[in-house]
Amino acid sequence: MQTVRELLKFASARLGASDTPRLDAEVLLAAALGTDRSRLYAHPEMAAPQGPSADFLRLLDSRRNGFPVAYLTGEKEFRSITFRVNRHTLIPRPETEVVVEAALERIPALNRARILDLGTGSGAIAVAIASERPDCTVTAADLSVGALAVARENALANHVANISFEQSDWFGNLHNRRFDAIICNPPYVRYPDTGLPPEEIRYEPRLALDGGHNGTACIRTVISNGPGHINPGGFIIIEHAHDQGGFVREQFRVFHYRNITTGHDHAGHERYTCAFRA
Ligand SMILES: C[S@@+](CC[C@H](N)C(=O)[O-])C[C@H]1O[C@@H](n2cnc3c(N)ncnc32)[C@H](O)[C@@H]1O
Repeated sequence: MQTVRELLKFASARLGASDTPRLDAEVLLAAALGTDRSRLYAHPEMAAPQGPSADFLRLLDSRRNGFPVAYLTGEKEFRSITFRVNRHTLIPRPETEVVVEAALERIPALNRARILDLGTGSGAIAVAIASERPDCTVTAADLSVGALAVARENALANHVANISFEQSDWFGNLHNRRFDAIICNPPYVRYPDTGLPPEEIRYEPRLALDGGHNGTACIRTVISNGPGHINPGGFIIIEHAHDQGGFVREQFRVFHYRNITTGHDHAGHERYTCAFRA
């Protein structure tokens, strides 16, 4: 017989190569036991009569092979909301929470803004904004049908009704629709020479990551087509890599946006740039 404490010690040792072996072990044990981490903390002496279950051992093996924890559990927290994720969606990142914060600060109070989340993936940005601003209407667009199905599930599970979904190749199916705010976290990884460890890009959809040779192809498409889809006084926020801020600001200038400002993530890296319609 083993206790939760012993199982966590065993699992942490097995996950030694992970950056966060103890945290991973807790999340995976909670998933295997069908409980949450707080119950593990509350009952470290709880017995597991059969020792580590076959399910738990399978989860540990997949994690040892680099499979992301969020895909193993099927969920990820983003701005205190639990999002379903799967192989069709990027796993929402903490950096993107900063982008949502920046958007919320700029969406004028009480003006029933129309908001577009372009490249919505799991719906993290769209659902977070729609739930924090019930007076606004949010459109969540993506090219991926698989991602849109997950985003819909996430809106339903979180009882968010002020949101609609569009399959669209960037602005392609949005025709002449205009928005007060556009938030876009586009694919911005350089391909094929990503410069990233293989395990960082192996599991998530290439459609969510691949930004072309310089990583900036999608950014350019979105910025160049943005002015036709932003209401007067409206703005667009684009998430980008820490070394793409200069390119993004330059593109905004080329396409005559104004009030161009770049913000930083919690690590102090340039992470998003916001610009208003001229
Ligand atoms: C970096 S992910 C961002 C996902 C989500 N917004 C987030 O922040 O977690 C980029 C998203 O853009 C979508 N995408 C890629 N190419 C697209 C295109 N041509 N038109 C619309 N969406 C596209 C991908 O499917 C993916 O969901």
